[in-house]
Formats: sequence, structure tokens, C-alpha cells
Amino acid sequence: MEKTFYITTPIYYVNASPHLGHAYTTIVADVLARYHRLAGHQTFFLTGTDEHGDKIVEAARKANLTPQAYADKISAQFKDLWPELAITNDRFIRTTDAGHMETVRRILQTVYDSGDIYFGEYEGYYCVGCERFYMEKELVNGLCPDHQSAPEYRKESNYFFRMSKYQDWLIGHINDHPDFIRPERYRNEAIAFLRDPLEDLCISRPKTRLDWGIPLPFDDNYVTYVWFDALINYVTGVDWPDGENFSAFWPVAEHLIAKDILKPHGIYWPTMLKAAGIEPYQHLNVHGYWNVDQGKMSKTVGNVINPLALKDRYGVDPFRYFLLRDMVFGLDSSFSEEAFVQRINSDLANDLGNLVSRTMTMAVKYGDGKVPPVAAPAADDLVLPREAARILAETEASFAGLAPHKALIAIWEFINTTNRYIVAQEPWMLAKDPDQGARLLAVVYHLIEALRVIAVLISPFMPGTADKIRKELGIKNTATQDLNSIRTWGGLTAGNVLKPEGALFPRVEYKPGTAAVAPEAGGKPIKPEITYDDFAKVDLRTAKVISAEPVPKSDKLLKLKIDMGEERTIVAGIGKDYRPEDLIGKTVVVVANLKPAKLMGVESRGMLLATDTDAGLTILSFDRLPKTGASVR
Ligand code: MSP
Repeated sequence: MEKTFYITTPIYYVNASPHLGHAYTTIVADVLARYHRLAGHQTFFLTGTDEHGDKIVEAARKANLTPQAYADKISAQFKDLWPELAITNDRFIRTTDAGHMETVRRILQTVYDSGDIYFGEYEGYYCVGCERFYMEKELVNGLCPDHQSAPEYRKESNYFFRMSKYQDWLIGHINDHPDFIRPERYRNEAIAFLRDPLEDLCISRPKTRLDWGIPLPFDDNYVTYVWFDALINYVTGVDWPDGENFSAFWPVAEHLIAKDILKPHGIYWPTMLKAAGIEPYQHLNVHGYWNVDQGKMSKTVGNVINPLALKDRYGVDPFRYFLLRDMVFGLDSSFSEEAFVQRINSDLANDLGNLVSRTMTMAVKYGDGKVPPVAAPAADDLVLPREAARILAETEASFAGLAPHKALIAIWEFINTTNRYIVAQEPWMLAKDPDQGARLLAVVYHLIEALRVIAVLISPFMPGTADKIRKELGIKNTATQDLNSIRTWGGLTAGNVLKPEGALFPRVEYKPGTAAVAPEAGGKPIKPEITYDDFAKVDLRTAKVISAEPVPKSDKLLKLKIDMGEERTIVAGIGKDYRPEDLIGKTVVVVANLKPAKLMGVESRGMLLATDTDAGLTILSFDRLPKTGASVR
């Protein structure tokens, strides 16, 4: 029977633009999907957005949009980002899709009819950020441990799912299926949750408080709790109950998430499935967190890493490679743009890039621009086929064991073996000896066959690079591009025309603070929209600089006297970019009604506007001289 594979990502909340964390999970899922396709498995890959609940209503309100308009806008940012990162999802699901809403209602009705949903009263501490109730003992100093904010105390009549009824079943299932939740540390964490009695799950919200949700099929005064709605996307995505995809893919379903949402996926979801009469998923694969500067990424700290900015600056394949190579699946990792640049230069430009360009140069120089005749490996060459077989086995084991970083380590061992093979065989010496013509062509053959193997192995991680290498090798035949094609050495067709392309990866230079933390995502502003009236509150004025001097003990701050109809002092952080004397007489733009603030002991009454260049800051200037003190609109 043909093997099948079904992988899902969490569906992301639309209350914020996509960031590094979302990109990581989705890229890992894509690497897994591509790997399984390469292995010849029939594969389905699902991602999407989670759009109901308090969180979204709140974010929409701040952005002055209706929840639907807001969800449309942010959902599109996710959807548009994925092709940029070479993501090959088969379906993009939204919880506001009519089909999904219908599925949720059907499942609710089924569980209700079987008696596992009842009406009751609830009171407790509710964290809007987590969209869930907390027990008092779970709070830390009265605050939500995840959001460090005080939860609201809520008392409500609501519907409950009898989750407690399935506790023993779930414990048994986890015990009988050791890799149901993996890696083991998260399995242990789930088992730890189950040591305490499970409470029933509150699965509704009264419409009087929240109407942005799926109405319960058995009581129109309530909408569905966002997690009960969201988790169901995994079965909607494959057309539960009688779609072809459901029967083909649900039996092999694997979810990929980070550790933050282990409880809903490890506890709520299997019990919900059980109650609905649906088989549990096969694996819950849990990875760690990307941190920045030893802490969480957060909008308030301003260290949210924008994946699109990194991709634009360094390229999609290096970005995918770095994320997969630098995080040990399951553990946390700290993101560093500097480490990223180092990896590009050492692993990609040096090891892989040089191997490809050296090989192609030799192949063209020593052959006649075509793949030489297939050569059986001589004793000296056996290192390559042997190593290729070992690395293939290692790659397969790493994927089976959910350790993609280990697959990359193994593939780079093969790249370096091939580099050493060149040094050992010295093709340039063979070229000097007319008797070694056949041997030289054999060495060239083995080298370009090694490149073919490398292209296949890296293709799930770096699809664009794999394609480029194949193009250089003149490969068109898809039969020489899958995992099976590298089980035997010598698959490369003799006579293919070689097309060297030059450096695969240009070396890059690290410039601190450039790309990673960018104020945009998806090329769209992430600040909420404002009305003209909001904008009109900011009093922007032109002003002429009368005098400028450094603020003592600061290398950045300059004290400027400006004329904007009235004279004022402002302090500007442009001391590294402008000499004081160069500013005198210049016309600048200032925010005139900014609350005064003291900077290094000097009171600043207003703020000068400037922006970034590659080399530092530049102040806003005009191409026609405006009046002094004129308002800027
Ligand atoms: N909407 C829920 C999921 C419902 S699934 C039925 C949700 N959304 S989320 O937008 O908050 O996404 C959480 C997921 O984003 C994490 O589980 C992980 O996949 C990814 N990440 C978010 N921040 C991350 C890091 N800092 N590091 C790694 N992945 C992170 O929860």
C-alpha cells in the first residue's frame, strides 16, 4: 500500500502579524512534507488561521476595524507570506470558512447528543491572552504565568464538555503509545497534567459578552469557545466525515506545535476526538521556543523578529537552512542574526557553494561541458558511494526520529567528504598526465554524481538551491531526483549538458541591528490603522536650526535651538550621524506637541524626524524651501 503522511501546523491567531516563531513551525512542517513527498509518500499539509474569540475582537477594536475585516487583513498576511518562504501547504484553512463552522457545529451536536456536553455554572480567573480559565493555584502572584497580566474574575452559566470522563482513557492511550506525544520531555509534561483530576472544559461563551464565534447548534445564545472551534480545523482540513482526504490522511495525522499549546493539543484535543467517535491523531510533535536576547519575543519589548525582512536580506534558502540547523528540535534556541550570517558564510558559501563551483569548473575544464560516461567506482572512489549510503540512512533515521538538524549535520558530513575527495584525488595533477585522461573523467563523474546526491538530500530544506544544482547538472529526468534515486550510485545520465552558474551563495557581512527587527511584516504596516483625526493630533512643523551643540557626556545626543515661529530647545539622537556645525541653517521637521522630556539633563520640547539609511540616520529634508513653522500634513 502506498504510504501516506499528513502534517498540520497550529492555525495562527490573527491578532498579530506573522513573526519568526510562526515561520519556524511552518517551515519545519514544509520540510517534513517535502521530505515525505521525496520519499514517494502521498502527503497532505495543512496550515491556516484561528480567527474567533475575545483576543481578535480586542485587536480589531484597537485597529478600528470589524472583526471580520481585521481577520481578513491579517489572515491574508499569513497566506501571502508562505509562498515567499517556499511553503507548499495543500490547503489554507480559516476558522471563519463556512465549511469549518458547519463541521464544528456537527461535532458539537454529536457530542451533545451523546450526553457529553452539559449546562452548568462556572466561576474563575480568565486570561484573555490564553483564552482560558486558570485555577487559583496555577496563577503566579495572582498573574497569568504566560502573560504576566492579571486575569479577570468571571462568573457565568455555560456549557461544559465532560473531559474528566476521558481522563483514564487518555492516560492509558499515552502509556500504550509511547510516541503519541514527542519528544519525551513533552510526553512527561502531559502525563504530569494528568496526575491531577481533569476538570470539565467550559466550551461556550454567552453571546451577550462575545458574539464573534460559532453559535452552538443547540443554544443560539452562546458561541463556541475558541479552542473547541480551532482544534477541529485539523479534521475539517481533510473533509471530515466522509471526504476522500479524511479516509486517506486522518489515520496518519501528525500535528506540529510549540510547547506553549501542549495542553490543548495533548489533553483537550484527544478527549474531544474520543467523545466525537473519531480516532486519535498519531503524533503530537512539539518543538521549543525561539527566544531573542535571552527573553521572549514581544511587541512591547520591540524585539519581534520579522521573517520576511530576513528572507529579503539573506534569501529564502539560507533562512530555512539556518532555522532548521540551529534549533535542536524540542529545545529552545536563541535567535542571533550574527550566528545566521556566520552559518551562511561557513556552511553555505564555503562548504556547499565552493564544492559546487569547484566541481563545475573542473567538469567543464576537464570534460567537454557534458557529464562524462558513467564510471564504476575504483577503490579510491568507494568513499563516496559508501558515505552516500550511510548519510541517506542517517537522514532517514533523523526524519523518523524528528531530528531534522541531525539530518543536516549528516548531509554536511557528506559535503565535506566530497571536498576532501577532491583534495585527495588532485584532479589538476591528473590533468597534467596524458595517461590519466580516463581516470580524470572518472573522478569528475563521481564528483558530479555526489552533487546530484547532495541536491536530493538538501531539497526538502533548500528547494531553490537543489533546483539550481540540478539545472547546473542538466538534470531533467524526475526519476533521478527522488530519495530512491540515490540508493544506488551512478544515477546521473552521461551526456547531460552542464551549465555552470557561478556562486550559489554570496558571502554576506553582518551589520548589527539591520534586518531582524523590522517594523513591518508581510510588507504591510503592523501598527493599527488610525483615522485622519488621530493623525491630526500630531502637530508636525518645519523649523530652522539656529544653533547646535553636543550634549555633554553623550556621543549621540545634540542640543538644537530651533526657530519654528517661536524659539525652542530640542534634543536629537543624531550626534553620530551629523556634526553640529552642519546642521545650522537647515530646515527640519519636528513633532511640536510632544510632551517635553528630559534627556541627559536637558529638557527637549519636541522631536526631530529622521529615518534610516544603510549608513546611519538621515534627517527629513525638502526639495523646495518651506516657510518656517509651517504645518506638515
Ligand atoms: N491559535 C492558536 C493555535 C490553535 S491550533 C488549533 C495559537 N496561535 S498562535 O498564533 O499563538 O501560534 C502559536 C504557535 O506559533 C506556537 O505553537 C508555535 O508553533 C508558533 N510560535 C509562536 N511563537 C514562537 C516562538 N517564539 N518560537 C517558536 N515557535 C513559536 O496558539
